[in-house]
Amino acid sequence: MQRVALAAALALAAATAAGADAARGEQLYARCAACHALEYDRVGPRHCDLLGRRAGSVPGFDYSPAMKRSKLVWTKENLSRFLANPLSVVPGTTMTYAGIDDPKERAELIAYLGAASCSKR
Ligand code: HEC
Repeated sequence: MQRVALAAALALAAATAAGADAARGEQLYARCAACHALEYDRVGPRHCDLLGRRAGSVPGFDYSPAMKRSKLVWTKENLSRFLANPLSVVPGTTMTYAGIDDPKERAELIAYLGAASCSKR
């Protein structure tokens, strides 16, 4: 029992050292996975290579006019604003998701997304 707890504590310490943000972000991504995947489009567009991408620019994905018109570039700052309240940042977006209130959770999610580059092209 104690040994298990110690192993868990060590694993946690290791994760903290090596990008705990992204690791936690991967868990938080479960909230997005109903509609999104990293490598392919679902109800929402794929998320690999998201940082630095223009909003509404995945070829072949059927975006709302609002998203295409938004002229946003997905910087960390813009992502954090959008994820806090999608509808207020892109009024008319078809992303029907209430948003994430906790700035720390948004940062963790963005750390995870920022590390996801597209493997297949
Ligand atoms: C209910 C389904 C749904 C959920 C849940 C959802 N999304 Fe979306 N998402 C969409 C749709 C649909 C779009 C396209 C919106 C548009 O065209 O207006 C989108 C678009 C986006 C975009 C813009 C991408 C681009 O290529 O411009 C980002 C970033 C995004 N979602 C992130 C997230 C994250 C992160 C989560 C989890 C916290 C999430 N979404 C949860 C459906 C969803």
